[in-house]
Amino acid sequence: MNPKIIVQLEKVTKSYLGKQPLFQDLDLIVERGEFLFLTGISGAGKSTIFRLLLGLEKANKGQVFFRGQSVGAIDLRDMPQHRRSIGMIFQDYKLLERKTVEENIAVPLKISGEPSLMIEEKIYKISKKLQIEYLLKQKILSLSGGEQQLVAIARAAIHMPQIILADEPTANLDHKTAQKILEVLQDLNSTGMTVIIATHDIQLIKSLKTRILLIKNAGLIEVR
Ligand SMILES: Nc1ncnc2c1ncn2[C@@H]1O[C@H](COP(=O)(O)OP(=O)(O)OP(=O)(O)O)[C@@H](O)[C@H]1O
Ligand SMILES: [Mg+2]
Repeated sequence: MNPKIIVQLEKVTKSYLGKQPLFQDLDLIVERGEFLFLTGISGAGKSTIFRLLLGLEKANKGQVFFRGQSVGAIDLRDMPQHRRSIGMIFQDYKLLERKTVEENIAVPLKISGEPSLMIEEKIYKISKKLQIEYLLKQKILSLSGGEQQLVAIARAAIHMPQIILADEPTANLDHKTAQKILEVLQDLNSTGMTVIIATHDIQLIKSLKTRILLIKNAGLIEVR
């Protein structure tokens, strides 16, 4: 497989029992270093594409590849490692609300057994980049939505994954905060990370000159 390609969906069909197929023979190629938006109305299947990539869902037909490896063929044993190699920002954040920002950001590094000195250094670096140093000791419960979104990004990016999947990262945020979140993601992209953002906020991305994909009628349309 072409080493430039980080994500490839090949004739993917996905349907849930008793529902119309979400995707039918869907093809997608994303190259390393790309920054792109995945759009479509609510229920179109944006989050499902991310879940297929994470191996949380299986395609009914076709193949999903990540770095040349078929995700559907990954052994259950190797799944945690696969998921760690993807920086996922969930639509509902999935932060530990009673823990501090610092503790939340540290989670992926703790899981991979990184020494605490390294963890401290990496937390310092990423929180500086995202300008959230002042929040480190605060509990998630005490943060605004925009602040929580930044923490979720920090946690996804702290181990410098090759790809970030951001699911509706600007939902429920005012325009200015949404712009800031986009800038942070663009900044991570400029360090070489591939970034895919799922959004239905067309207004927000109109002014950007990036690639936009639209899920419609069980297929993908290249809008730009
Ligand atoms: N486990 C499941 N069982 C049955 N149907 C499901 C399941 N997971 C998702 N779906 C359905 O698949 C469709 C696509 O869901 P998905 O979450 O991917 O949409 P989305 O584009 O991310 O929407 P939104 O913009 O609201 O986040 C929805 O109709 C949803 O109800
Ligand atoms: Mg969704």
